[in-house]
Amino acid sequence: MSLADVDQTLHIAPNPGGFGAELTGLDLSRPLPPETLARVKAAFLAHGVLWFPDQPLTHDQLEAFTLQLGPFGWDPYVAPLADRPHILEVRRDPGETAAPFGGGWHSDWSFQETPPSATILHAKVVPPTGGDTLYGDAVAAYEALSPAFREMIAPLKVVHSAARPYGPQGSFAREEATRSMKILSSPEAEKRFTHPLVRTLLDGRKALFCNPVYTLAVEGFAPDESAALLSFLFKHMTDERFVYRHRWSEGMLTMWDNRRAIHHATGGYDGHLRVMHRTTVAGDRPV
Ligand code: SIN
Repeated sequence: MSLADVDQTLHIAPNPGGFGAELTGLDLSRPLPPETLARVKAAFLAHGVLWFPDQPLTHDQLEAFTLQLGPFGWDPYVAPLADRPHILEVRRDPGETAAPFGGGWHSDWSFQETPPSATILHAKVVPPTGGDTLYGDAVAAYEALSPAFREMIAPLKVVHSAARPYGPQGSFAREEATRSMKILSSPEAEKRFTHPLVRTLLDGRKALFCNPVYTLAVEGFAPDESAALLSFLFKHMTDERFVYRHRWSEGMLTMWDNRRAIHHATGGYDGHLRVMHRTTVAGDRPV
């Protein structure tokens, strides 16, 4: 099959409501022709979460696919695969009792000055039950707010930090259960970055940019005011109206837009192995 034939077979099947879409008909182990890549990027912007079933990829192929979307992001606090500094293994062994990695609503590395635009997760071993990932649509959540509320939050900035999970006193450092992933807790995680609470996407749509794992406070608010506003927003963003539950299958590659989607790894597969390989694509400073 030539590359042109592959392009003609690309089929995009969006979820009802448009958040998330399944893409079939491509072979991601080979470079995508420019037009196909442009269609994939457009679908990414339009739908926020894309999944490609049945894509058995080597490490080299996963890296090459990632680089077609942009340079690698910076992935601190988790030891990568040996000799693969840009691939993290998100793994939970059958006997593990530690909470699933990513088991709280978050947007990847939102505490960075330039958080990754995309995260790519490639399913290597999928448990027979559980292990779904939930995705929340922060554009739909923003658009569902009243115009007066949107106007009120428009100028606000929020403080992000990795301290809660990855700081020296963070949840990973205090964890007693053994974990198969090597977490690198560090004082660096105490650093803070301020980002706009509402960010503008490339297509002009606006998204809430905050999450309960990394967003600590609303800049300039008293602690109780900040806690009240953030608690309202987190509850609102994770309302079932805005959430898509993603079920994995072996070989599936899923990529999500961290500028628009928050996500949450669920458990429910104790006694079973789950292995995913993860890369990120560098992003811009949120505006
Ligand atoms: C993550 O937050 O990167 C992990 C998501 C998952 O394992 O489902």
